[in-house]
Amino acid sequence: MCGIVGYVGPKEALPILINGLKRLEYRGYDSAGVALLNGELTIKKKAGKVSDLESVLRPETLQGTVGIGHTRWATHGEPNDTNAHPHSDQRGEIALIHNGVIENYAAIKKTLESEGYTFHTQTDTEVLVQLVRFFYDRVGSMETAFRQALKQVVGTYGVAMLSKMEPGRIYAARNGSPLALGIGDGEYVVASDASAIVQHTRQVIYLGDREMAILDRDRYVTKTIDDEVVNKQIEEITFDIEQIERGGYDHFMLKEIFEQPETIRNAMRGRLNLEESTVRLGGLRTVTNKLRDARRIIILGCGTSWHAGLVGEYMLEQIAGIPVEVEYASEFRYRDPILYKDDIVIAISQSGETADTLAALREAKRHGATTLGIVNVVGSSIARETDAGVYSHAGPEIGVASTKAFTSQLTVLSLMTVMLARMRRMGAAEGAHILKALTELPEKVEYTLARAEQVQKIAHEIASTQNALYLGRGYNFPVALEGALKLKEISYIHAEGYPAAEMKHGPIALIDANMPVVFIAPKDDIYDKIVTNIQEVRARSGRVIAIATEGDTRIESLAEHVIYVPETHPFLSPILNVLPLQLLSYYVALQRGCNVDQPRNLAKSVTVE
Ligand code: AGP
Ligand code: GLU
Repeated sequence: MCGIVGYVGPKEALPILINGLKRLEYRGYDSAGVALLNGELTIKKKAGKVSDLESVLRPETLQGTVGIGHTRWATHGEPNDTNAHPHSDQRGEIALIHNGVIENYAAIKKTLESEGYTFHTQTDTEVLVQLVRFFYDRVGSMETAFRQALKQVVGTYGVAMLSKMEPGRIYAARNGSPLALGIGDGEYVVASDASAIVQHTRQVIYLGDREMAILDRDRYVTKTIDDEVVNKQIEEITFDIEQIERGGYDHFMLKEIFEQPETIRNAMRGRLNLEESTVRLGGLRTVTNKLRDARRIIILGCGTSWHAGLVGEYMLEQIAGIPVEVEYASEFRYRDPILYKDDIVIAISQSGETADTLAALREAKRHGATTLGIVNVVGSSIARETDAGVYSHAGPEIGVASTKAFTSQLTVLSLMTVMLARMRRMGAAEGAHILKALTELPEKVEYTLARAEQVQKIAHEIASTQNALYLGRGYNFPVALEGALKLKEISYIHAEGYPAAEMKHGPIALIDANMPVVFIAPKDDIYDKIVTNIQEVRARSGRVIAIATEGDTRIESLAEHVIYVPETHPFLSPILNVLPLQLLSYYVALQRGCNVDQPRNLAKSVTVE
């Protein structure tokens, strides 16, 4: 949902802004722009990617050691040069960039128009910078004007602003959209997330809602927008710059797919208690008793994280015996949900900033539920607002299509399942058996990823299809949903995931010789049922691609293509079965010439509604 970056220090700001925007581009890439102060305030902005902007910039005209930059994911106004950020006041003396949605922008715009203000863009953001000007012309203080304008906003913002009136200063503030402040040596970098900061400093402050920062060359101040100074803790960025580089891969998505053996190891590292055949999750220590006594778990998430929650439901109910409900966060937040005080609510989110999930979490907290997070980004809003939680330790995930974060989420869910089951009804022998399966998993992931070339060949055969069906049962029904989402979001093929048995209640009408049908068909206790479903598809000339268990020769007579994955404990099978589907979507998208890392219309972290 757009990336913002700002720099105050002794160096030329432009290269720092451009590099920072490239690090943040995965958050949104409709258009990009920069504003620099060097006596004059100069704004350059353009529809398209950061590289498109860079190609038209003349650095000699953009000197200055104070600047801000923005890469956009449009909410209000089409992605064109005019609607690109930064936006300025009418006199061109204030420039502002914004991540979020100003819900009451129309009312503010109407008021300002009645005061003689004119608007040149379709965005909500322009209203904010004009409102700052409105207050500045009346109070004469830029800081007061900035705070007063923000207090009028209903909605979300991560903003950075500079002005000709205060040439060495940047104002920044957040409410609902993430903002981090890098504390360098005589320089400051403010950005949507740490990936644009780590190259300059590891010292970082994460602003909270309704908090702001004032950055000057030699100092910074943090306060609330109600003018109360707040002392923010300086934290350490935990990842290295190499982790946000492509590392020789053609795309971040491919790199992140192949990182999964290591990221799954990292998700388990230090958490397996082999002596007691259980799991140790330090982040849940404070809620152990509540977890043991929980009568129900509600899982909140969006997209891939919601799919992880569905797998978690099967795990926790079957293995730990706890009733689970999985909710789309966007629905939960407006449904006036019924919650009990001993409910446990788990928010799953890679970014930890998804607006719907954050809002649903806050709704659960308002109902008094104990809230946990399964989050990847350290220090993110959801991680900070939950009562306890478990980081998934997948490292920065840059590709918009989530891959390693998903399997890390499943790994954490399996760890939580074992921990809860061993508190309740699972014996040490079963615990030891599952822990053994977990320790063997990374190697089985490597083994499965070695099938990439076979998957690439299959991808060539289905790349021209316009539709596809993904079918699975039990633990692997959510994998069917996830496989379909991967194909949809990066190759733009309309793919649907369905419970395999449900296919005969309608979708089977779609089956013909042009319809690829991907079956997740592991050798488990419902294998025979899925074989029946495969035969129902074949009877109608459907083209079957099967993800099957190593050694299952029967499936070869039923499917046009079989991609084998090693056997594992049934509740861990989604972690292996999703891998060929990730690869399939990647290679199909490549074949179709799609932008794999930055698919059209999407952004990595959806921090607006
Ligand atoms: C997944 O490939 C998509 N990019 C999207 O569905 C994503 O999972 C969803 O927006 C939730 O994001 P989060 O995990 O950061 O909350
Ligand atoms: N609402 C602003 C716009 O549409 C910002 C969108 C974003 O967060 O990228 O320009």
